[in-house]
Amino acid sequence: MRKTSRIPGFYKLSVDERIKKVQEFSGLSDEDIEVLRNGFSLRQMDRMIENVIGKVEIPLGIATNFLINGREYLIPMATEEPSVVAAASNAAKIIREGGGFKTSSTEPIMIGQIQLIARDPENARKEILENKGEILEIANDQDPTLVALGGGAEDLDVRIIETESGKMVITHLFVNVRDAMGANAVNTMTEAVAPFIERITGGRVYLRILTNLSTERTARAECVIPKEVIGEEIIDGILKAYEFASSDIYRAVTHNKGVMNGIIALALATGNDTRALEAGAHAYATINGRYAPLTKWEKNKDGDLIGKIELPIAVGTVGGATMNPTARVSLKILNVKGARELAEVMAAVGLAQNLAALKALVSEGIQRGHMSLHAKNIAMMAGAKNEEIDKIAEILVKEKNIRMDRAKELIKKLRE
Ligand code: MEV
Repeated sequence: MRKTSRIPGFYKLSVDERIKKVQEFSGLSDEDIEVLRNGFSLRQMDRMIENVIGKVEIPLGIATNFLINGREYLIPMATEEPSVVAAASNAAKIIREGGGFKTSSTEPIMIGQIQLIARDPENARKEILENKGEILEIANDQDPTLVALGGGAEDLDVRIIETESGKMVITHLFVNVRDAMGANAVNTMTEAVAPFIERITGGRVYLRILTNLSTERTARAECVIPKEVIGEEIIDGILKAYEFASSDIYRAVTHNKGVMNGIIALALATGNDTRALEAGAHAYATINGRYAPLTKWEKNKDGDLIGKIELPIAVGTVGGATMNPTARVSLKILNVKGARELAEVMAAVGLAQNLAALKALVSEGIQRGHMSLHAKNIAMMAGAKNEEIDKIAEILVKEKNIRMDRAKELIKKLRE
């Protein structure tokens, strides 16, 4: 039987039944399931950060229906926000009817910055460029493993920037980090080349650190949604919503927040640095001079809806927190070959999340989708137990009266 991420009624299954479906799809071992159920211990966490006293837990859900470049994916998403997982699954279901997502990405090139103050900035720039070979060699001596994997420092560039206190010479070191996020590799390299740059320029180096605006490490996704699938009215609404975001920063930020709902949930599930992604994405949104939506929506000549996204995605599948047990299981569920594929899947999830939000916003609004989970919470807070929770929640939603006093009344009635 062909493997498919299209699992109708997945949301209606119990947690155990869902785990079983995911296990069948991804070949998870019993130990993997154990990790999903129990997370990791405080002892393991004590090795991650300093001064540990506990843990904050976030649910891990699965978005279904993703078809990307002809391949089926189940998407692990860690988020505290109701509706995000359902919305991604819904949008992916619509998008697969138009053939799914097509994605692409650049090589995983990160940029390290070395800030130099020199008496003669132009001459310093010339010296750095003339000694490029040696600088790259020093950088690559720091990470023979990365070089053996086909990565390493590949090039450099020097910019002279104007600041209040005068000119600064900023060297950009371009490092192919392969399947790592790359922060450690790049920062080690920038620190290692700094003394040599000081020597050849006679200047003083201050900062040596990567930039989170990884313009050389971008991922793209696009989709075509036939008008028969989504309806012309919704398409026109989505185009108006897109125009709104393109012309108004207040709307564009919220539009992009919706995109990042998906990307960050997948990043968190796979142990990636969510702040690096957020910082890079929002800076990239301004790359053409003013803050703009990260997605683009248009109609083709047949009147079908075309969606596109492009943004920097610096994520890894090895190293750092991706080695944590739950992140390893998430990566196993995704079954990506490496960092580029993960970045492309993230772009697709961001595009799906945006479609879902816009579609809801131009039709019924987003509140209805929130209601059923909200009703379950109210039912639980009112004291409902086990099967009572779903029963009470269903009545509260049907009555459009999601209130604690009504939930208490219903519990009493049900128990009588
Ligand atoms: C909520 O988390 C995300 C949305 O606000 C995104 C949007 O408005 O496009 C619904």
